[in-house]
Amino acid sequence: MQKIAILGGGNLGQAIAWGLLESKSCTAEQLYVTRNRVERLNALKEEGVKVSNNNLEAVQCSQIIILAVKPYKILDVLDGIRLALTPEHIIVSVATGITTEQILSAAQKELSVFRAMPNTAIAIRESITCICAKNANETERQKIVDLFNNLGQAVEIQEELMEAATVLGACGIAYVLRFIRAMMQGGIEIGFGAEIASTIATQTVKGAAELLIKGGKHPEEEIDKVTTPKGCTISGLNEMEHRGFSSSLIKGILNSYQKIEK
Ligand SMILES: NC(=O)c1ccc[n+]([C@@H]2O[C@H](COP(=O)([O-])OP(=O)(O)OC[C@H]3O[C@@H](n4cnc5c(N)ncnc54)[C@H](OP(=O)(O)O)[C@@H]3O)[C@@H](O)[C@H]2O)c1
Repeated sequence: MQKIAILGGGNLGQAIAWGLLESKSCTAEQLYVTRNRVERLNALKEEGVKVSNNNLEAVQCSQIIILAVKPYKILDVLDGIRLALTPEHIIVSVATGITTEQILSAAQKELSVFRAMPNTAIAIRESITCICAKNANETERQKIVDLFNNLGQAVEIQEELMEAATVLGACGIAYVLRFIRAMMQGGIEIGFGAEIASTIATQTVKGAAELLIKGGKHPEEEIDKVTTPKGCTISGLNEMEHRGFSSSLIKGILNSYQKIEK
């Protein structure tokens, strides 16, 4: 297994680091994480992960370089590590909106570059991660897809869809969480305490997702099974649709997309 450096050990960078360790994608000794406030990486350090604020050293010690700083810092960080980059390095950027062209032009080298868009469920190895590649050969592509498959599920997409992937996958977590909260609020109003309402809502969402993932069905096929003619499910569902349920979700997704495209 090749050594991995994560430059930017913040929320996402640390979640990736823990996921890599838990999935045994690499050992603690094969992982190097950087950030400015190094003391915030103590938990990883105690596991045996090398931590510092020295990006150059991290790059010199590693082959796969995961860039997990904020988008506005990516090009500066690349500028700082440029001299240590060799054709053997693979760059993986998780920064929203920074293109592979921008990364290559900042690196000033013909490297294999990937963009990966995970979501926060990566912390529990349940992320969907959309990946696109530039200059990568088949072995390198498989290596990066395998790495993110160990942290949930990875899919390869065209780079022009990376912004759409950000909306549907990364922002999508927030849409689903708000849906769960609304279900809980309804559950409380019809008689449940908050805790049991949360258990019922979360397990129902998990079960619905698993029905589609494991059964490979279209959602409407599963909906047909629970909508008895003249029954309470179809009555509630139609009321939600009259009030704009599907259309408000679709409009929200389009709104997020328009915002990210600006
Ligand atoms: N959060 C998400 O759901 C999500 C999903 C997909 C993609 N992303 C992308 O992931 C990236 C990180 O997001 P985040 O939410 O994890 O942000 P974050 O918590 O602010 O993490 C960024 C980290 O970068 C560190 N940093 C700043 N300058 C650095 C430098 N020169 N060298 C090394 N480390 C440096 C910061 O360390 P100090 O605080 O010590 O300065 C901080 O720990 C962003 O580009 C974002 O677009 C996030």
